[in-house]
Amino acid sequence: MRVLVTGGAGFIGSTIVDALVARGDTVVAVDDLSTGARANVATGTPLRVADVSDERQLRGALRDEAFDAVVHAASKTKVVESMEKPDLYRRVIVEGTRNIVKIADELGARMLVNLSTGGAIYGETADCAAEDMPVKPTSNYGKNKAEAEQIVAASRVPSITLRLANVYGPRQRKDLEGGVVAIFLARWRSGEPLVVFGAGSAQRDYVFVSDVVDAVVASFAGTWNGVYNIGTGVATSVNDLIAALSEILGRPQGLTHTAARPAEIERSCVDASKARRDGLWRPRTTLVEGLRRTASS
Ligand SMILES: NC(=O)c1ccc[n+]([C@@H]2O[C@H](COP(=O)([O-])OP(=O)(O)OC[C@H]3O[C@@H](n4cnc5c(N)ncnc54)[C@H](O)[C@@H]3O)[C@@H](O)[C@H]2O)c1
Repeated sequence: MRVLVTGGAGFIGSTIVDALVARGDTVVAVDDLSTGARANVATGTPLRVADVSDERQLRGALRDEAFDAVVHAASKTKVVESMEKPDLYRRVIVEGTRNIVKIADELGARMLVNLSTGGAIYGETADCAAEDMPVKPTSNYGKNKAEAEQIVAASRVPSITLRLANVYGPRQRKDLEGGVVAIFLARWRSGEPLVVFGAGSAQRDYVFVSDVVDAVVASFAGTWNGVYNIGTGVATSVNDLIAALSEILGRPQGLTHTAARPAEIERSCVDASKARRDGLWRPRTTLVEGLRRTASS
């Protein structure tokens, strides 16, 4: 297959590129390198540096190309930053998605896979959220991602939106908001104490990046469309995450507690039983196994 991966120099996008190259697909990555890195892109895979929200630039970068499938992973991803830079987030997420939908059609794609977010869309989830739970995004990031989902749903190209839980794995940056596993691992390695917000009771659904890649690849079959949650259905607290990492790495060099971040969600978890029921996907990697693979990367 010929596949276009937007955000192909980022954490998840570049891991998708690796998997596609390994299975023999021809891949082109598009990325503006704002948070991604050229070094992440598999050797031999063309990287077109372009801003997805700039239609002219995007068209120029993809002139004369044709693709069987498009994976849209390019996005701004930081909740706090989205409140400080509303215009940037709207432009990249909403206008960027509009451009990708249009171009996917023009370039002949038969499948569009859109990466969205469970955490920022469902809000507080006492029970793990299923896809039919009303969305309640509070941040500009979540609101724009919800709007982008609608744009994708209205696409002429058959499409699927994967609402991802908290993704972790090798290559995740430690300086970006939210990548708590990457942040903790870096502190373990440098011997610095871990900083825990509040009591460490905040729970998240941690899904391993290779499992997310499996969901993307399965989506190419075109059998499924609409919205699917991709997560484990298990909510793990920060304290439990530290305990699991301690099993692998030994005790951290101390713990510092600081005030809980305002507006931080206490419990975020997605129910992926629709994906399992429909035969699209199920998680394969346990948290301990995923942490082990991340720690040894
Ligand atoms: N990491 C997570 O836990 C998580 C959870 C839910 C959803 N997601 C979604 O997964 C996707 C990938 O996220 P990630 O964690 O790999 O983040 P990332 O920042 O590593 O990757 C995003 C990539 O998009 C690129 N990009 C940003 N703006 C661009 C633009 N205007 N034009 C072209 N490229 C641009 C960045 O340079 C980067 O390489 C995003 O859609 C994100 O919303 C991630």
